[in-house]
Amino acid sequence: METVLSGIRPTGNLHLGNYFGAVQSFVQLQHAYKCFFFIADWHSLTTHPHPENIRKSVKTILAEYLACGIDPEKATIYVQSDVREVCELYLYLNMNAYLGELERVTSFKEKVRKQPDNINAGLLTYPSLMAADIIIHKANKVPVGKDQEQNMEMARKFARRFNTIYEVAYFPEPESFHLSEKALKVPGLDGSGKMGKSEGNAIYLIDDEKTIRKKVMKAVTDSGPALPGSEKPEPIANLFTLMEIVSSKDTYDYFNGKYNACEIRYGDLKKQLAADINTFCAPIRERITELSSDEAYLDKIARLGAEKATESAARTIREVREIIGFRPAPLS
Ligand code: TRP
Repeated sequence: METVLSGIRPTGNLHLGNYFGAVQSFVQLQHAYKCFFFIADWHSLTTHPHPENIRKSVKTILAEYLACGIDPEKATIYVQSDVREVCELYLYLNMNAYLGELERVTSFKEKVRKQPDNINAGLLTYPSLMAADIIIHKANKVPVGKDQEQNMEMARKFARRFNTIYEVAYFPEPESFHLSEKALKVPGLDGSGKMGKSEGNAIYLIDDEKTIRKKVMKAVTDSGPALPGSEKPEPIANLFTLMEIVSSKDTYDYFNGKYNACEIRYGDLKKQLAADINTFCAPIRERITELSSDEAYLDKIARLGAEKATESAARTIREVREIIGFRPAPLS
């Protein structure tokens, strides 16, 4: 069975874009693949040497993943820093990672511009840590967005390079797994582009009914179509896309008909959209709240994940040590 792996940095709550763009697909994938879903807390140190509340953010993602339906019995859900074997592989990969190629990575260059006072080696070697995350479980498929494509190329390059240097066919080259055919691109509420945390246009899975309504009512609209059947400008098309995602077909058709007949009242559409978003989010939100307050359960899940991930990672490290020519570590 092929292995799928995905990592997420603990930077905040999940929003509808995360849900429909990725997490919903993870829930499907866990039935068809061996899945690893992990929280990349070490990666946070590259930009935040003292990540505030890192424990809380890790717990938040854990609770939200579970609330969305990721099943800890089916998939392995774990925290990166619980699996120290990743560090050892990171070290080996760094021995064959070259300054020039690391410096050429676009996201590194961006960070150099953004945080000139903290251009640390962790930032430079971000791609080798990410490669270690992936190949430690010999993952075949990695669901990522376009922004991670260069990191994925580096991961493939490091896997290939290891195989070449040690003359083995050990690590598979991880493929980027584009969910885009199946997953939905969720637009934001600010008129253009997709929903994102940094864009400030997101509806979070934990947003309560009132918050949802407030955000939706503020969404950008216009003065309505000039002629029957006119094409929808982006802000309007975005509201209809959201409606397509969360509302029933009848509801969508009703408002679409109104639009095409130049009888649309955006206030009504938004009220309906907010209600439908809330209907969708409410059960997930309740599970998040429930899970978040059950510290013991979350700890248990993290421990189970750590055990399963460590078992897989330790096997790889044993074999890698043998391939490179080290003796087995006597204490592991
Ligand atoms: N770099 C990814 C991001 O910023 C997070 C990440 C870390 C990751 N390690 C990974 C993603 C391994 C996939 C596989 O979104």
